[in-house]
Amino acid sequence: MSAPQVCHTVAEMTALREQLSAEGKTLALVPTMGALHAGHLALVARARELADVVVVSIFVNPLQFGAGEDFDRYPRTLDVDVAALAGHADYVFAPAAEEVYPERVGGPAVPAQKAGSVGDTFEGASRPGHFDGVLTVVARLFDIVKPDVAVFGQKDAQQVFLVRELIQKLGLPIQLDVLHTIREADGLALSSRNRYLSEEERQAALALPHALLAVAHEAQHGNAASVREVGRSVFEKYPLVRLDYLDLVDPTNFQRVSDDYQGPATVVVAAVVGTTRLIDTENLERLHA
Ligand code: PAF
Repeated sequence: MSAPQVCHTVAEMTALREQLSAEGKTLALVPTMGALHAGHLALVARARELADVVVVSIFVNPLQFGAGEDFDRYPRTLDVDVAALAGHADYVFAPAAEEVYPERVGGPAVPAQKAGSVGDTFEGASRPGHFDGVLTVVARLFDIVKPDVAVFGQKDAQQVFLVRELIQKLGLPIQLDVLHTIREADGLALSSRNRYLSEEERQAALALPHALLAVAHEAQHGNAASVREVGRSVFEKYPLVRLDYLDLVDPTNFQRVSDDYQGPATVVVAAVVGTTRLIDTENLERLHA
């Protein structure tokens, strides 16, 4: 299995894109921050189905981390990641921060993207500016790589919603493909941050998938109020876990639904286990008033 070719500069990536376009090849991009796991490989496999060439970007984006967050300790494992992508991806784009944000070395400023009011809720309420940083880097990656398709994981439901809005707002000719969450056998959603968890915390982290199961069960007959209550009550059994939010949103606008809402809903949950922030999500077919 051949290892993907690694591009470190915008110039290399641009030349590659031009060559592929000249050859009439379509390109799928899987944006990541590295520390790849089976969830990322599932995104790459999906990308492979959708385009001739698969590019995985690996960049730990400083703009999406707040003060006191895990930017410094975020795992940087480029060699292992490139090896894991052998036979799966064709290219890895792993730029330095100065390549992505040339203004850091006196170059032109990259346009800052704003996530708007949805960006200030849920993850954004606890991590101010996070989604502005995510959208700024995603727009920049889209501009450099010019993918025909971009593949994202559903686990980051709010990110997916905002990236979809970004694509529409900028009028980009990019198809957004969203893959369901990949889970461990016991239900924990795969995340690069799971590696921070001690054994005890790893057990406690099951609060999130257990709450989602309880929510799905209650949603078979309950309304939004009872579904929220049942989901949140699961966390009372997990003293190591601090629930940040568990809520229900309308997937069409990412607004919190009212107690008498009827229709499809997305459950979003975030909790801190020890010092590790985890998120998860599930789509519910229908809520009953
Ligand atoms: O989901 C992630 O890993 C990041 O938010 C992304 C999309 C790669 C932007 O840095």
